[in-house]
Amino acid sequence: MVLTALRLITGFIDACSVLKCRPPNIRNYSTSSETIKAVSSYIRDKCESIVVMAGAGLSTPSGIPDFRSPGTGLYHNLQKYNLPYPEAIFDIQYFVNNPMPFITLAQELYPGQKYRPNLAHYFVRLLHEKGKLLRMYTQNIDGLERLSGIPGDKLIEAHGTFHSASCIVCGDEHDPEIVKQTILSGKVHLCHCKGYVKPDIVFFGEQLPAKFWLHNLDTADTDLLIVLGTSLEVQPFASICDAVPRNTPRLLINRELVGSFGYRDFDNMLVGDIIESIRNLAKDIGWEEELSKLYETCEKRST
Ligand code: APR
Repeated sequence: MVLTALRLITGFIDACSVLKCRPPNIRNYSTSSETIKAVSSYIRDKCESIVVMAGAGLSTPSGIPDFRSPGTGLYHNLQKYNLPYPEAIFDIQYFVNNPMPFITLAQELYPGQKYRPNLAHYFVRLLHEKGKLLRMYTQNIDGLERLSGIPGDKLIEAHGTFHSASCIVCGDEHDPEIVKQTILSGKVHLCHCKGYVKPDIVFFGEQLPAKFWLHNLDTADTDLLIVLGTSLEVQPFASICDAVPRNTPRLLINRELVGSFGYRDFDNMLVGDIIESIRNLAKDIGWEEELSKLYETCEKRST
């Protein structure tokens, strides 16, 4: 009897120690060079299913303002629209009453108009080329992820896309090219039912695309979560970050500490400019030349 009880207790202790077993040695480092060393070997030698989360900070090096950076963020520069509050420009109720602020902004943001992907987009593309990208979840509506060649089945545009358009009343789909031309001419596209047609950008008050919820599976399968250029202010997108298991390593690449980063044993943070961090990381992995070549070849082809 005693022997069985002892066996049970030792078995339980063993199970706990196995559960606590730490993934490859990447954990909270104090300096970015230590972080880069630890994370780069983990990405190169171990990772096979990386999940990337991205926000507007991924696209600021391409010339697109983010939303909340003091002074430069979009929400700080909307005075000309006389909005009741900044987020109204993406609020469906406000749009129904006054679509012009969004229409004017959309003329700026339409993909392929004047902005191109930057080195950080191509770093994610390289993760895919190396067979290491499980999925990229982006909040961005600028379409630069697609333009950098990240395939559609790896990309979840959680806050929607300009690549399709539909009526906000009857839901009928409309030709996105025709809608784009109407918007670029400064007008609202009308549906046959007289409802407003807008690109399928997810407004506050609208549902996220169904495939966003794929993250419930991806977060269980990933071996590294990389968070690029987001304040993690907006739910439910930000919840992906805390959905990964506690012993799954997380890497933040952002100008400042955000969300719950720093509270887990396997959090790693590269706080600073995204391009500089990506360059340093790619260099330490040994992908510096390959990344530059991919970027230059693709961007030269686009000019
Ligand atoms: N390098 C590193 N970090 C940067 C850089 C850069 N060059 N530029 C901006 N950042 C950081 C900012 O410091 C900030 O922490 O990126 C983050 C951007 O945060 P937000 O402006 O809040 O953008 P985002 O997180 O994408 O907003 C989420 O809010 O209004 C909604 O729908 C909108 O998708 C958007 C969502």
